[in-house]
Amino acid sequence: MSVRLFIPRDAAALAVGADDVAAALAEAARAAGVEAEIVRTGSRGMLWLEPLVEVEHDGIRYGYGPVELSDIGELVAAGLLTDKVIWHGKALGPVEQIGFFKRQTRLTFARCGVIDPLSLDGYRAHGGYKGLERALSMQPLEIVDEVTRSGLRGRGGAGFPTGIKWRTVHDAQADRKYIVCNADEGDSGTFADRMIMEGDPFVLVEGMTIAGLAVGATKGFIYVRSEYPHAMAALTSAIAIARDAGLLGVRIAGSARAFDIEVRKGAGAYVCGEETSLLESLEGKRGIVRAKPPLPAHKGLFGRPTVINNVLSLAAVPFILAEGAKAYFDYGVGRSRGTMPIQLAGNIRQGGLFETAFGITLGELVDQIGVGTATGRPVRAVQVGGPLGAYFPRALFDTPFDYEAFAAKDGLIGHAGVVVFDDTVDMARQARFAFEFCAAESCGKCTPCRIGSTRGREVMDRVIAGETGKAASLELVADLCNTMKFGSLCALGGFTPYPVLSALTHFPEDFRRAPRLAEAAE
Ligand SMILES: Cc1cc2nc3c(=O)[nH]c(=O)nc-3n(C[C@H](O)[C@H](O)[C@H](O)COP(=O)(O)O)c2cc1C
Ligand code: SF4
Repeated sequence: MSVRLFIPRDAAALAVGADDVAAALAEAARAAGVEAEIVRTGSRGMLWLEPLVEVEHDGIRYGYGPVELSDIGELVAAGLLTDKVIWHGKALGPVEQIGFFKRQTRLTFARCGVIDPLSLDGYRAHGGYKGLERALSMQPLEIVDEVTRSGLRGRGGAGFPTGIKWRTVHDAQADRKYIVCNADEGDSGTFADRMIMEGDPFVLVEGMTIAGLAVGATKGFIYVRSEYPHAMAALTSAIAIARDAGLLGVRIAGSARAFDIEVRKGAGAYVCGEETSLLESLEGKRGIVRAKPPLPAHKGLFGRPTVINNVLSLAAVPFILAEGAKAYFDYGVGRSRGTMPIQLAGNIRQGGLFETAFGITLGELVDQIGVGTATGRPVRAVQVGGPLGAYFPRALFDTPFDYEAFAAKDGLIGHAGVVVFDDTVDMARQARFAFEFCAAESCGKCTPCRIGSTRGREVMDRVIAGETGKAASLELVADLCNTMKFGSLCALGGFTPYPVLSALTHFPEDFRRAPRLAEAAE
């Protein structure tokens, strides 16, 4: 008898014992004389179910999770390694019928959790490299136009139209141009870049190759944060496999076009995710923000025209080229087109990766998809868009996930990290944390950010300690925020006011409380 199992090797699954579970199941199969093929995949993104074990029957994959080592004896005794679908406390039924998964529209993450991430055959069998094939039959400007018409906007935070950025680099005259992939993924509660790099690295390799063809770049770099060793390993292997298969190198896919990619490790500064700081770091210097202009599209890496895009922006490109701009544009609302891989994190019962068309409301995401808090207490606040994003109260849960709708509520989508807090959160402390984070991560180049963040933290300390003159202190916070917002060189200083002011606006009662006695005594 033979059986086919799928177990993720994604870092989130490894962290909760996926390797041990895979080894124990392999051993159990050996002992039972069963021929078991264990395919190590990326994650399906239902993180509360990891390690998720899937068993294939008649082409349908049945899930069991979260599987602990102590479950394995029982699962095997119940017939997990036979050709029958078994029922057990950990049985989830067909994985793709699980509500969290079924409600998604997986365009970018279509293969993640499905295939062996390093199987080029698996990638091709699920539509991979069709986009590149089509791009190779097009003129560079046609590729740029296709991306422009898809409506794709940068998924790294700023939401800038990808096609316009590519057009600028396409039009620039230079002896060399570069594609730089921003895989620094520093936002709190975000992991989509990591998941796709670990779970489907070829999609990024293909997306970057198409970008190279479009703008006339022959070299790409992926700047990966040092905390992502599994992503780095997956990318390095995928690049070597693509090179061996002639899909990277001097004549990609037998064409006259050249493109190759190198992986570079960042050193762990949040500001190195900011594109110009990233370029400095990539050039071997300290990560300090460059003044703009010149834009990286004119003068970027080593002074050459450079496309800098987030992992998810580049990973959306193969679908757009393979299926056409309209197929992507048809999803979404207003000027927010296509799908967004949203990451549900923090105090949430069902956390994970949820890819969906723009337009779903924040309330649907938190209450229906995430099913409220893990603690079971009421949801009080949700921070969207990383440490520089605004806090949303329940009263704003009808806000649709859409760049403009969030901006209209003084918020931002950013990299689509959604971090949930229950009613025990102290929003004055969260406001203090925003200043503290900015002070710790500031590159120090401009005064409003470098000094303003430290002054802000000090004032918040006084507010929290309940010192007299609270109204004047809060006025000073608002004033500082104004200076940082309009006087900072980059969004680290410029957007720190968003979490601070949203906390103050939506949760004013937390700023008016009596002094925290225990803390005051510290
Ligand atoms: C402080 C700061 C940190 C940032 N961190 C990231 C990051 O980790 N990943 C990312 O893709 N973009 C990050 N960005 C945005 C980048 O500067 C840039 O807009 C983005 O890489 C462009 O790619 P996109 O157009 O595909 O989004 C950051 C910006 C700032 C100001
Ligand atoms: S805002 Fe902060 S991080 Fe950005 S350039 Fe100024 S000091 Fe550096």
